[in-house]
Amino acid sequence: MSADTTTTTPPQTPAGAPASNGHTAPGPRVRSTFHSILEGGLDWQALPMRLFVQGNQKFWDPSAIDMSQDAEHWQLLDQGQKEGIAGLAVQFLIGEEAVTEDIQPFMHAMAVEGRLEDEMYLTQFALEEAKHVEAFRRWFDAVGVTKDLHYMLEDAAQDGEPVGGIFAKLQPEAMGRLWTDQSPEAQIRANVVYNQFVEGTLALTGYWAWAKILDSLGGLFPGMREIIRYISTDERRHLAWGTYNIRRHVAADDRMWEVTKANLDEMFEHMKRRREALQADTSPEAEARRERSRAMGTGPEASWEYQVSRLKRRYGAIESARGAATEQIEHGLEEEETDEEGYAALT
Ligand SMILES: [Fe+2]
Ligand SMILES: [Fe+2]
Repeated sequence: MSADTTTTTPPQTPAGAPASNGHTAPGPRVRSTFHSILEGGLDWQALPMRLFVQGNQKFWDPSAIDMSQDAEHWQLLDQGQKEGIAGLAVQFLIGEEAVTEDIQPFMHAMAVEGRLEDEMYLTQFALEEAKHVEAFRRWFDAVGVTKDLHYMLEDAAQDGEPVGGIFAKLQPEAMGRLWTDQSPEAQIRANVVYNQFVEGTLALTGYWAWAKILDSLGGLFPGMREIIRYISTDERRHLAWGTYNIRRHVAADDRMWEVTKANLDEMFEHMKRRREALQADTSPEAEARRERSRAMGTGPEASWEYQVSRLKRRYGAIESARGAATEQIEHGLEEEETDEEGYAALT
């Protein structure tokens, strides 16, 4: 069940590079056994199975959310408020679309490793990301914003990244590598970019901003509030799985902590560069945007502080797995509590 760590660790291949370690490439796989009818069947106590059961119990339907009041409330906003709220919602919508697509190679990696419980959980994970796309898109449709919104992504292009930022290049490269390379190093790279950084840092900061903005608007937008509440409960499980996946690699081979740390440090540098690029924009429009966000409690200073605190938590949540017994990681109870206070506060 565990990763193959008996061979020497190959040098870390750059994101998107071809496989270097001989792990199985995609294609038809011949079955000789069926995991679910082996003696003992499924491991109900494994963290992914517990998350899977929880997710089924908490199933929700985006089309059942009433967004009619949001449509009325949208008309009460001035142009600046509309741009600000639509801008945040656009970041979420493109992010949800990207994570729906990019999670698929992780499912493949779990299949190659023979981890059916993880694979089952990731099918639910992918479905939930697709529901998040549905929810945000329905909200735009409900408030009547149906024009092309790519112009809102221009900010993200300013620090030398392609339009769409991390979702256009960094994340698809890190995740796409898993199609041909399922090594612990490749899984850790994908996990740090996707689970620890996008979900555990950027998305959490986004939810924090939503909470502040919606509070500053009093009782407006009940539909969006409900969307955020539901999505937060899903994301708590996603991050719990991501943390479990990376912790088991670190527990199995202590060298994987250095790999993890190097990737987390790189995300920290990425975040700093992005902030500097935004600060460099001193145009009157940018200043006005900053002032507007400060008034809602989501100014660049407060937002940076929150973002850094979330990323710092990821180091501790993973490092504590060093030297732990595999059994404790696979079946321990504490993984579900290793983060997630940020999400828990929203649910
Ligand atoms: Fe999501
Ligand atoms: Fe997610």
